[in-house]
Amino acid sequence: MTTTETLDVQPTPLALLLLGRESDPRSERGVDCPGDLPAPSDPNLVERARAAKARLGEKVFILGHHYQRDEVIEFADVTGDSFKLARDAAARPEAEYIVFCGVHFMAESADILTSERQQVILPDLAAGCSMADMASAEQVAECWDVLADAGVADVTVPVSYMNSSADIKAFTGRHGGTICTSSNAQRALEWAFSQGEKVLFVPDQHLGRNTAVRDMGIALEDCVVYNPHKPGGGLTPEQLQDAKMILWRGHCSVHGRFSLESVEDVRARIPGVNVLVHPECKHEVVTAADHVGSTEYIIKMLDAAPAGSSWAIGTELNLVRRLAKAHPDKQIVFLDKTVCFCSTMNRIDLPHLVWALESLADGKPVNRIEVDAETEHFAKLALEQMLALP
Ligand code: 13P
Ligand code: SF4
Repeated sequence: MTTTETLDVQPTPLALLLLGRESDPRSERGVDCPGDLPAPSDPNLVERARAAKARLGEKVFILGHHYQRDEVIEFADVTGDSFKLARDAAARPEAEYIVFCGVHFMAESADILTSERQQVILPDLAAGCSMADMASAEQVAECWDVLADAGVADVTVPVSYMNSSADIKAFTGRHGGTICTSSNAQRALEWAFSQGEKVLFVPDQHLGRNTAVRDMGIALEDCVVYNPHKPGGGLTPEQLQDAKMILWRGHCSVHGRFSLESVEDVRARIPGVNVLVHPECKHEVVTAADHVGSTEYIIKMLDAAPAGSSWAIGTELNLVRRLAKAHPDKQIVFLDKTVCFCSTMNRIDLPHLVWALESLADGKPVNRIEVDAETEHFAKLALEQMLALP
């Protein structure tokens, strides 16, 4: 193929987004990077990041999600899962700039929880989340109409996973619901069932199902899956009336790839291995695992594990690699051979971090994440409800 022919081929919006170019207004993800990124080959990137951070001093606070690259985590003032980072952002009123090394929905939540005076920066706007993109505010509003037509909206409480857009968080706040993360999903569901008879859980069907069935003893038959691409969600009014948990048909493209075979395979390969997985994994994987919990839980579990013990971990690869390095006295393996990094978390790399920090130090903030006032008001109700969970 010649160059001209190559140019004639129109790349798909998704391909462009993965390259960090162009924009898709219907997606949580990406717009052009408006500046000149340092070359990834620049040997001075680490020095430049250090110097820019030093110039900014107390003005900047850098948050790093556990799935970020090592080169980025090195510069994080705190690391954590999405719950811990939301709390850490809210607890830093003195920092003028919060640089969020994570994905878009996390930066939006940080903007909602911080003051007007503070600016939240996402070093690469293409760092979205494919799960969050599986539920749009319009689809969720349409679902609520379906529930109203079935006569169940009044007794349903929305519980939205942190991994959702600010619009969906605002919808949740407007309808008296709460946000949850993987570390407080059970408490969120217990609270929701004290407020109503049913829960609409958006967008991760696996976290919703695993928490309801595994942790709370709700029957699998009491869970139905609402498919936003089918009329009426693909459910009859009777199915909606009978259900306790109405699960949105969404999933994490990283955790969704772990399979029951990978659990069986690792148990055959490593006798006595402890299988520890994230609750975004499929129900059959979680059921076959020995321990289930958020990224923060996984880290604590391994810190407490005895030397010589063996662990197969079902979560994102950056974190598993770091854990294996941090615990040379324990055997820590990745649960599946085919599962890889979260490509959107990996968008934040050292060139983007350097660019964001140097721009801030020069007084020209880039990639600010700003939620509009009305959305922020209602989304904050749902986020504060989460922070107030017992
Ligand atoms: P936690 O950080 O809450 O464990 O969630 C994992 C995840 O997939 C974040 O996108
Ligand atoms: Fe989204 Fe899954 Fe990546 Fe988390 S790991 S940001 S849920 S795609």
